Amino acid sequence: MHKKKIALTGDRPTGKLHLGHYVGSLASRVKMQEDHCLFVMLADAQALTDYSHDPQKVRENILEVALDYLSVGIDPKKTTIFIQSLIPAIAEMTMYFLNLVTWNRLKHNPTIKLEIQQKGYGEEVPAGFMIYPISQAADITAFKAQSVPVGDDQLPMIEQTVEVVRKFNRLYKTEVLIEPKAVLSPVARLPGIDGKAKMGKSLGNAIFLSDLPDQVTKKVKGMYTDPNHLRVDDPGKVEGNPVFTYLDAFATDKAKVEELKAHYQRGGLGDSVVKKYLLEELLAFLEPIRKRREEFAKDPQHVMDILWQGTQAANEVAHQTLIEVRSSMGIDYFR
Ligand code: TRP
Repeated sequence: MHKKKIALTGDRPTGKLHLGHYVGSLASRVKMQEDHCLFVMLADAQALTDYSHDPQKVRENILEVALDYLSVGIDPKKTTIFIQSLIPAIAEMTMYFLNLVTWNRLKHNPTIKLEIQQKGYGEEVPAGFMIYPISQAADITAFKAQSVPVGDDQLPMIEQTVEVVRKFNRLYKTEVLIEPKAVLSPVARLPGIDGKAKMGKSLGNAIFLSDLPDQVTKKVKGMYTDPNHLRVDDPGKVEGNPVFTYLDAFATDKAKVEELKAHYQRGGLGDSVVKKYLLEELLAFLEPIRKRREEFAKDPQHVMDILWQGTQAANEVAHQTLIEVRSSMGIDYFR
């Protein structure tokens, strides 16, 4: 029998998901669930590594992010959606893995370095934050995931996971841990509506999957375009112009987008016309998602039941791996 490949990915529940998440990973999850054994994790414990002051926010966003998942078509019959902090095996494996990595290596993780800067931690980095890449290695290996669909900012995490796997397997002469591979989205990352390189939930430049039509309208109207395109007759720039990047990602009529690009570059096409078309396309794209969200949101208990079921199933898998991990380390005292 052909065995399905195992894939795992997740999100920190610190805010609703947006178009950038859709393009970067939600779309590929919806596809992957058809021919993979897919685990999708609400990484609440990881979220707490920099939200320890506000667990309530994490708690609220468990439901919001679950609603986002369900509304884009992640199907709990095909995909195991679960809550990280309810998987004790992950915490325990993190403890053992931490001994296989040096403090110096942790300090040189590029994503961590960048995030320390962005968050302005200076010398006061929470220790839990510093080691979250190792906890992420436990997330991935507890499920023996071969594929990890993520954005390119997560590549250092996968690299670090591979290092842990190799070290563990070599040291304890075993093959229980599986080396994962990152699966990058074929679409480049989506810029923010302000033209900044990345759409971020805390950057104030995102269009959320749950935004209402009038919110989307306001955001699209205010979108950054080519700042040198002052008069309609001026030739405009398409590269680095988020309006066109979004059209590339969401418009269904690719030929029309190419036509608009050519016209814009020639001059004579106003930003408001392009934005109007983008708005139509975005609203059409978001409508079914928002409808499904509203349906699920009517019954939050049902959504929590889905998470409970998924978490039970995930726990069985991760616990089995933990038994193998302990046994390969020779600390399975009472077996
Ligand atoms: N670090 C990821 C993010 O910030 C979330 C995450 C946690 C994750 N554990 C994971 C992603 C395991 C992939 C696999 O988006």
